[in-house]
Amino acid sequence: MATNPYMKGGPPPLPTRPYRLTLKGSDVVIHVDPADLPEADHGHPGSVLSLLMSAGVDVEHVCGGVCACSTCHVYVTRGDTATNEASDDELDMLDTAPALKSQSRLACQCVPTGASDVEIEIPAWNRNAVKEGH
Ligand code: FES
Repeated sequence: MATNPYMKGGPPPLPTRPYRLTLKGSDVVIHVDPADLPEADHGHPGSVLSLLMSAGVDVEHVCGGVCACSTCHVYVTRGDTATNEASDDELDMLDTAPALKSQSRLACQCVPTGASDVEIEIPAWNRNAVKEGH
């Protein structure tokens, strides 16, 4: 995984319990097994971006998942308390994203904890860029 040398701290903790990640408005349901997380080629290990990409949902991620753009902007529409807390770097980058909401996260930085199921929505302005490969 590429890293941003200007970011502080290590990657967020990985989930400890299985959970379901669903993509709102689609039939995508990912059964996440903490013991079998996908290779983290896209963002933090266990991130929403890596989970969606490995399930064939091609989410825009121009900087490669190092918190240096805002193209992976998503909304956590359910289970937001079951994700890691956004870092200051993520919040700064989110400030540059269009259609910001209280539910906004960067998919490459958002790592669910497994405390509950999580539902993700791709913002409408970014939806055309999403390709489902299944
Ligand atoms: S891919 Fe650039 S911030 Fe997530």
